[in-house]
Amino acid sequence: MKIYIVDSYDKISEKAALIVASRIIANPKSVLGLATGSTPIGMYERLIDMYKRNVIDFSQVTTFNLDEYYKLPKENEGSYHYYMMQRFFNHINISKENIHIPNGMADDVEKECREYEKKIEKAGGIDIQILGIGTNGHIGFNEPAENLNTTTSLINLTGNTIEDNSRFFEKREDMPTKAISMGIASIMKAKRVVLLASGENKARAIRDMTNGYINTNHPASILQAHRNCILIIDKDAAKLIE
Ligand code: GLP
Repeated sequence: MKIYIVDSYDKISEKAALIVASRIIANPKSVLGLATGSTPIGMYERLIDMYKRNVIDFSQVTTFNLDEYYKLPKENEGSYHYYMMQRFFNHINISKENIHIPNGMADDVEKECREYEKKIEKAGGIDIQILGIGTNGHIGFNEPAENLNTTTSLINLTGNTIEDNSRFFEKREDMPTKAISMGIASIMKAKRVVLLASGENKARAIRDMTNGYINTNHPASILQAHRNCILIIDKDAAKLIE
């Protein structure tokens, strides 16, 4: 695992956008694994800017999002569908049929999860997986637990995550308590993983994912076993790394 410690959130966004852009330039048919949350927003803004300046073309790019809330309609402003359309997809020339986000409204969730995995496989796997990290060390919505899901599954969110993410909803009660998330193996199969973290509130999670041990109570720590994983973090998030 390579760790890049940069000066600011802007630098994180810039580096991440350049990594994604160079991949798309090298292979216009790249398959991207995408994340939500506040951390990748700056990266998306830069990618939109590069698209507008004709530096990159998304017409043949395929995307798979990590996760989506369970039983939250796509139109709900707190949904990851809404986030991705507003913050990224509506501003670039990606084909709608190449966008994949788990359907949290699916009647048959198990089928939805199985099919999501198949779609990733059929697309040839993920070339670059962008990740954020929860303050509790979750990646996607793979929460700390004794057993972690290997493939895409329905997850019960922890109190910590509900607390953290309820800021995206008007009322805490509006925040869903379950989500569909790609599993640990789905993420580990990506050819390259790029994890972004900014701010002191991520310092503990970053320390625990880089300490040389894999612990299912710190799901991100599994990334230490990935062959091609890089962390792009700012000084505050790097504070506790030994
Ligand atoms: C959510 C997402 C994660 C993301 C995390 C961190 O829980 N499911 O994929 O990494 O939030 O979010 P933020 O970047 O807002 O700190």
